Amino acid sequence: MIPSEIIKQKRNGNEISHAQIKDFINGYLSEEIPEYQMSALLMAIFFNGMTESEISALVDVMLNSGERMDFTHHSNYVADKHSTGGVGDKVSIILGPLLAAAGIAIPMLSGRSLGHTGGTLDKLETIPGFKVNINLDDFRKQVDSIGIAMIGQTEDICPADRRMYALRDVTGTIESIPLISGSIMSKKIAEGISGLVLDIKTGNGAFMKNIDDAHILGDTLTKIGNAFNINTDVVYTSMNQPLGKTAGLWCEVRESIDGLKGNGPDDTMQVTFELGAKLILQAGLSKTQSEAIALQNELISNGKAYEKFIEMVEYQGGNPQDIENYNQLHQPKLSKSLKSEESGYIQSMDTYKIGLATIELGCGRKKTTDMVDPTAGIQFYKKIGDKVNRDDTLLKFFNSNNSKLVPAEVLLKESIQIGGKKVEHKLFLD
Ligand code: URA
Repeated sequence: MIPSEIIKQKRNGNEISHAQIKDFINGYLSEEIPEYQMSALLMAIFFNGMTESEISALVDVMLNSGERMDFTHHSNYVADKHSTGGVGDKVSIILGPLLAAAGIAIPMLSGRSLGHTGGTLDKLETIPGFKVNINLDDFRKQVDSIGIAMIGQTEDICPADRRMYALRDVTGTIESIPLISGSIMSKKIAEGISGLVLDIKTGNGAFMKNIDDAHILGDTLTKIGNAFNINTDVVYTSMNQPLGKTAGLWCEVRESIDGLKGNGPDDTMQVTFELGAKLILQAGLSKTQSEAIALQNELISNGKAYEKFIEMVEYQGGNPQDIENYNQLHQPKLSKSLKSEESGYIQSMDTYKIGLATIELGCGRKKTTDMVDPTAGIQFYKKIGDKVNRDDTLLKFFNSNNSKLVPAEVLLKESIQIGGKKVEHKLFLD
């Protein structure tokens, strides 16, 4: 195998074979193929796409780069949710424990921040002591005993995605339907699940900017899920503004804890319940959508979802006391407000720029070795359709590094448009 020949073949828009994809990815994992050649192949795929058979080969090779979990012994329905990536999207942190409390086993493999979007792993790691890289035996035992574990790709499970995901993050090769499909579905199939619900984020802060592309991605993911006997449901939700009232690291964990305690923001809870209902119906725990939503509301109001979260935190090395005192943790040293310069209504939010601002603040990486700042984030006081008066606070942004506050401010100042008419924001798309 000559790596540059495979790169050229893909660069020229020709199909590459299953064997070539396998040799290339395995060569990359064994360090025979350097990062620069994998970067070049990713860019060739980004520009030329992949055929259906190339995508299924990619999923197969990425999946088989590590172990595959088996939960056939589990008496509960085993399932998971995954989002294609957004800003302020903390739904996994609320929905995982909520579904586990409902009696669905959740062996969740998540990712770190990707491009301008936030990553569940980076958020969870702000919980002091919380481990996201536990070994597979412990992962399996934890799911068996408490019904949920949330970890990342490791050397044992999905190592190909672990490396390629981090490389895509810093090489401008994220927004590719084949690469997103390989990344998401290799992780989900490796979990050994029977059911899956996918939140396909759509809009100016998502990787899919319009509903047509979102449908192509949704159909591709569903086809792969079905081919592996996974009941796969898809929900399309707007990413034309951040989800919830915060975007960042610890601030999103805090907002998730609020959600688990019954005080979550409306949009976040609506998306959580819609996705949760799909899996509750798949599992046969409720007969109708409204029953499935009532069940989730009950598990929040009786404290069971929050208790499950605490149980998971403790199992994965965190201290429940830190969660109880969640308002005192990770206080940012610096904070600034963005005020409105006019009166009117919020017309639109440039969610991509807001996501870039979170990276500038320290929530994401510009190169793979960058450290994130747990205190960093944004709090939104106004969203699309809200009335604003001159001098009202639109948002606050915060972190613990002054030099990062300035470039974030430049982006945030350009991210909110105000005008005279009241506009509606549609959360669910068809
Ligand atoms: N989520 C993933 O796990 N991978 C992607 O490529 C995009 C979103």
